[in-house]
Amino acid sequence: MTLPSTSGFEIELAVFAAALETALEDLLDETVRPGEIERPPRLMAAIRHAALAGGKRLRPWLVVETARLFGVDGTGVLRAAAAVEMVHCYSLVHDDLPAMDDDDMRRGRPTVHRAYDEATAILAGDALLTMAFDILADPDTDADPAVRAAMVLALARAAGAGGMVGGQALDLAAEGRYEPDGRPQDLDAEEIGRLQAMKTGALIAVSVEIGALLGRADPAERDRLARYARLLGRAFQIADDLIDVEASAETAGKATGKDAARGKATLVALEGAEAMREVLGGLVAEAEALLEPFGSRAAALSDAALFVAFRSR
Ligand code: IPE
Ligand code: IPE
Ligand code: MG
Ligand code: MG
Ligand code: MG
Repeated sequence: MTLPSTSGFEIELAVFAAALETALEDLLDETVRPGEIERPPRLMAAIRHAALAGGKRLRPWLVVETARLFGVDGTGVLRAAAAVEMVHCYSLVHDDLPAMDDDDMRRGRPTVHRAYDEATAILAGDALLTMAFDILADPDTDADPAVRAAMVLALARAAGAGGMVGGQALDLAAEGRYEPDGRPQDLDAEEIGRLQAMKTGALIAVSVEIGALLGRADPAERDRLARYARLLGRAFQIADDLIDVEASAETAGKATGKDAARGKATLVALEGAEAMREVLGGLVAEAEALLEPFGSRAAALSDAALFVAFRSR
């Protein structure tokens, strides 16, 4: 099977990543904000290690691109985008901890607990999570308090026990962590789908939702975009699981070949790589069809679906 080319979109994403990097650098400096007492330098360095220099920045790109669909742009949107990326970076720092996936490399560099220490990695994650809500609640992000509250609520629901964190718990449970004999659970495709919708899909979906909130999308538009985002989230984790099976650590920027060894519940393990590539093709087509009513304005979001499904890192 010849894979579609995603290189045009990758260039767009790289350009965006540079702008986001600048926003993150400003938000994560050592300057004490009103209401704060001190930003400890070692903690801030670990936070910057986690959040700067690397990553595709897909989630914040989705925030910005969705808002732009409704003609809304500017520093407030970029701040909200940075907030979502902070939650994502926190999730990676904790995901890599010895108590979770126990990984030494992330984004081509040592993981935070390797570069610093475990306690600092836990605290850096905690601080990134907290700061995300600080930013969303700040009037600099959006002048309308109702929009700010809606973004805070949406992110909390997506990131918490009923979303990303809950998905991570199910992911570890499926590995057999809580079984007396440590044997992986046999999840069916539907159960794996729900686990992945939580651990990965929720944050991707809320990225689009926050963009739609900033863009003042109407309920019908929000619903359509939410359906698009759910497909994107499904494709995203399938692609991640394929990368674990097929890519080198050098390309992926993280250790690969670990999911099977750990007994992770993945659709790739259940149904095979070739079958999942077929599924990915279908998800992309469905996602693109959902965007049709938005016309050429949604071309980049449409390209994103193809990229997410067939990326190599
Ligand atoms: C990796 O996310 C973790 C998953 C949710 C599968 P990304 O593939 O978006 O990681 P970065 O941000 O580009 O490093
Ligand atoms: C991570 O899934 C999901 C979250 C961080 C919430 P993975 O464990 O598969 O991500 P990688 O492969 O380590 O990036
Ligand atoms: Mg994991
Ligand atoms: Mg992991
Ligand atoms: Mg993975």
